[in-house]
Amino acid sequence: MVAYKSKVVEQINLPSRERREQALEDAGYNVFNLAAEAVFIDLLTDSGTGAMSDAQWAALVRGDESYAGSRSFDDLEAAVEEVMGVSNVVPTHQGRGAENVLYGAVVSDGDVVLNNTHFDTTRAHVANQGAEPVDCPVASAHDPTADEPFKGNFSLEAARAVVDDVGAERVPLVVQTITNNSAAGQPVSVENTRDLAAFADEIDATFVIDACRFAENAAFVARREAEFADAEVADIALEQLGYADALVMSGKKDGLVNAGGFVATDDEALFERCKQRAILYEGFPTYGGMAGRDVAAMAVGLREAVEEAYLTDRLEQVRRLATMLEDAGVPIYTPAGGHAVYLDAGTTFSHLPPEAFPGQAMVCALYREGGVRGVELGSFAFPDTDRPELVRLAIPRRTYHTEHLEHVVETAAAVLEESESIPGLEIVSDSAVPELRHFTAELEPLSS
Ligand SMILES: Cc1ncc(COP(=O)(O)O)c(C=O)c1O
Repeated sequence: MVAYKSKVVEQINLPSRERREQALEDAGYNVFNLAAEAVFIDLLTDSGTGAMSDAQWAALVRGDESYAGSRSFDDLEAAVEEVMGVSNVVPTHQGRGAENVLYGAVVSDGDVVLNNTHFDTTRAHVANQGAEPVDCPVASAHDPTADEPFKGNFSLEAARAVVDDVGAERVPLVVQTITNNSAAGQPVSVENTRDLAAFADEIDATFVIDACRFAENAAFVARREAEFADAEVADIALEQLGYADALVMSGKKDGLVNAGGFVATDDEALFERCKQRAILYEGFPTYGGMAGRDVAAMAVGLREAVEEAYLTDRLEQVRRLATMLEDAGVPIYTPAGGHAVYLDAGTTFSHLPPEAFPGQAMVCALYREGGVRGVELGSFAFPDTDRPELVRLAIPRRTYHTEHLEHVVETAAAVLEESESIPGLEIVSDSAVPELRHFTAELEPLSS
């Protein structure tokens, strides 16, 4: 049941097919280069694109813009303590700002960093410190059809193999990303977090949770992990996050705001180091690159994010889109994750080899067909890995309605119908940062 009603609306338009064709060509067949006005249903990301509640808008007006000692910062600290169980907070302008602050404080040249799956900015920040990011997903993570409850888990077996190989002294940091965005938004069990915390302790590494979608993850735990069948989502979140030495957070996800992030830790020495780096890169530690009003809105958003009614609606909407796509015969990654449905472009575009970027061909086709913007997470975004060719349709929080999702399904079904006649793509202008090439590289359709 939808747990909100609209108070403010924004008009959206479906441009003509001719305009969409032209816009795609002008964008170098990279939908990050499209003007948002040319997009009808925007499922590029769930990051900072959701609708705030009236309580958040009210908090925004009352935001304290003081450079130092802002009351809004006190509100944020109290919310982080209450919802995430950690008392020291360093605000940053968004998640990658928090990554820069935290990873810059604990990672050095030649280190190896383990993660269930590095998100692209995480991978880039680790590499930027001269360290090597190594993914340790479970075997089912990249199997679009395996029917398992926690395909986002961290493989301890893989982690042990890396540590045996490189030596524990080279692994100062172990990160668990919940939910696992780069593995189709799959959840992570509390048992897995507990085991990983013990492993990090054993090798004397700092254990960080990337908590962007901690509330969605806790909602999955309540539904799928027997030990927590009768637990409140808010209590599950507190327990899971409680195993970490530090949290890195993009507030643009489960902070339910359009901007902001933070590092949180109970480790006083680490807190001090993060504060110093934050002053250098983000701002004074009581605003850290955010406006006071955004800090205030995030304090409210964090509390709303763990409300059961909100989370039920959130997970239901994603599941509904997944079910409608399956009913229309569109191959998808199953089970659906927390914030997005991932289309299995490798199956839909089986006539295209990875080097012709089947996922990106599908992203372009979805836009051309119905003005729907998704994002490729396959061989274009992750060169030199053997991941499945996926297209992510991320759902902004509290934003679209079932009718919008129906349009997305009709569009995907039409693309499926004509998939064999759609050509692959080649890169004609690459990015200077290989880990981030899908944001800016330009492509052209291959002539058949
Ligand atoms: C798991 C994960 N970590 C970090 C980030 C980076 O956050 P931001 O976009 O706020 O910089 C994201 C953003 O999508 C993410 O999904």
